[in-house]
Amino acid sequence: MQGQASRRNFLLSAGALAALSAKAIASDSCDVFTPAQTSGPFYPGERAFGLDTDLTVVNGSSRRALGQVIYVKGRVLDAQCRPIEGANVEIWQACASGKYNSPKDPNPAKLDPNFKYWAETFTNKDGEYMFKTIRPGAYPAASDWDRPPHIHVKVSKLGSKELTTQMYFKGDPLNDVDFIIQDLDPAERDSVIVDFSPSPVGFEPGSLMGSFEMKLQQVRRS
Ligand SMILES: [Fe+2]
Repeated sequence: MQGQASRRNFLLSAGALAALSAKAIASDSCDVFTPAQTSGPFYPGERAFGLDTDLTVVNGSSRRALGQVIYVKGRVLDAQCRPIEGANVEIWQACASGKYNSPKDPNPAKLDPNFKYWAETFTNKDGEYMFKTIRPGAYPAASDWDRPPHIHVKVSKLGSKELTTQMYFKGDPLNDVDFIIQDLDPAERDSVIVDFSPSPVGFEPGSLMGSFEMKLQQVRRS
């Protein structure tokens, strides 16, 4: 019975995702390459490789990560705006308190033992990916600088230039005073700030969903 319910939920999710993707394709402008941004000092040294894209549950635990549940989905495109199949997409981020799972992180905030902090996946034939995670907390980068909530992303695929970038949340006031965001030109800035809204039927009730599309540059041939 439980199997049937989860299969139904999966089918609902897949149908809802297809409808959302069609909408995203119709509204693409696709004239801006996704800007490279620093990977920061907290790229995880130890990663549990696997294709589990749900960061809100750690294997073997019945407890959930703290924070607002979100889905981050989107497509990876090549320089001609064609979907890239089989691109490796990694994300890493702070937990809801703003703490990274890194010994280099000096933030005194508490780690969330029920959060996964890093995950990877591969794009499907339509260039699509999706992660279930939580909205990360802001954190201090210097005495006069708080980083806005953001998710680090690395994308790689043979034939395209590897991209390391960061994704932000539309409407967060810290976006307007963040040195890294403000360093981007306006079109690039718009391309990495994502508008989240309530997830459609079939996804976790109360969750939010946003679409982050990434366009990769082609590797130059000599
Ligand atoms: Fe960061």
